[in-house]
Amino acid sequence: MMARNDPHANGHQPLARRIALITGAARGIGRATAMALAAQGATVVAADIADTTNTAETIAEQGGQASALAVDVSDTGSVDALFHTIEERHGRLDILIQCAGIIHEKPLLETAVEDFDRVIAVNLRGAFLVGREAIRLMNRNGEGRIILIASDLAYFGRETFSSYVASKHGVLGLARSWAIEFAPAILVNALCPGPVDTEMLGAGNMSSEWRERELDIPLHRFGEPEEIAAMAAFLAGPSAQFITGQGIGVNGGSVMP
Ligand SMILES: NC(=O)c1ccc[n+]([C@@H]2O[C@H](COP(=O)([O-])OP(=O)(O)OC[C@H]3O[C@@H](n4cnc5c(N)ncnc54)[C@H](O)[C@@H]3O)[C@@H](O)[C@H]2O)c1
Repeated sequence: MMARNDPHANGHQPLARRIALITGAARGIGRATAMALAAQGATVVAADIADTTNTAETIAEQGGQASALAVDVSDTGSVDALFHTIEERHGRLDILIQCAGIIHEKPLLETAVEDFDRVIAVNLRGAFLVGREAIRLMNRNGEGRIILIASDLAYFGRETFSSYVASKHGVLGLARSWAIEFAPAILVNALCPGPVDTEMLGAGNMSSEWRERELDIPLHRFGEPEEIAAMAAFLAGPSAQFITGQGIGVNGGSVMP
C-alpha cells in the first residue's frame, strides 16, 4: 500500500484509503494534524479525552472522512476499547499520530509524586500503550507509519519542567527503538516541535516568564499547529519512505541536535 508506485498516491490525495488514528485531536496540534491528514484523503479517527466531535464535523464539512472517539491514552482499558472499535469499523490501521499530551511546570522540590506520575502516564505510558496496540494492528498488514510527538525538550534539559522533559526524552527513545524493532515494515519517527501556539503554552499551563523565554529562538515566534501538522502529514505519506527512527525538529531553530 505504501509502495513507490502506489496507484492511490496522487498529488492531491496521497493518503487516500489510509486509516489514520490521531490522538489529542480535540484541539491544538492534534486537531490541525487530523485536518491535514483528512485533506490528503485519509480516513481519520479523531480520539481524545476531550470531545472530538467538532474536529470530525469540521473535517466532514470540508469533504473529508472522520469519526470521533473518546480515549484516555494513559488507561489500558480505554486504549483497548479504542482499538477494538477501530478494528471493528475499519479492520486495519495505516497511520498513528500520537499527539495527546500534558505539560507540568514546577520546581522539582515542589513536585508531588502524583504530578510526576500523571505526566509520565499521559505522555510516555500513553505513547507506549497506543503505539503498542497500533503496531499490533499494523503488523497484520505488514506496514504502517507511527509518528509520536516528542518535543525539542527531548534533546535538552529545562529547569522546572523535569517531569515533562523526562517524558519527552522517553518518547524519543520509544520511537528510535521501535524503528529498529519493526523495520522495514513499520516506519517510526518522533516529531520534536519547538514552541507552538496552543493551549499548552497558555496561562495555567505555563508561566508568562517561560512563555516569553520560549520566544528566544532564531525565528523569534511561536509555530502554528498547522506547521507541525504539515510535517506529520509528510511523514505519513508516500514521499517519506526512507525516514525512520528520527527525531524531526519543526522548531524555529530552538535546537540543532
Ligand atoms: N505546544 C507546544 O509548544 C508543544 C511543543 C512541543 C511538543 N508539544 C507536544 O505536542 C502534543 C500536542 O500538544 P498541543 O500543544 O496541541 O497541546 P494541547 O493542550 O492544545 O492539546 C493536547 C490534547 O491532548 C489531549 N489529552 C490530554 N490528556 C489526554 C489523555 N490522557 N488522553 C487523551 N487525550 C489527552 C487534550 O485533551 C488536548 O486535546 C503534546 O504531546 C505536546 O507535549 C507541544
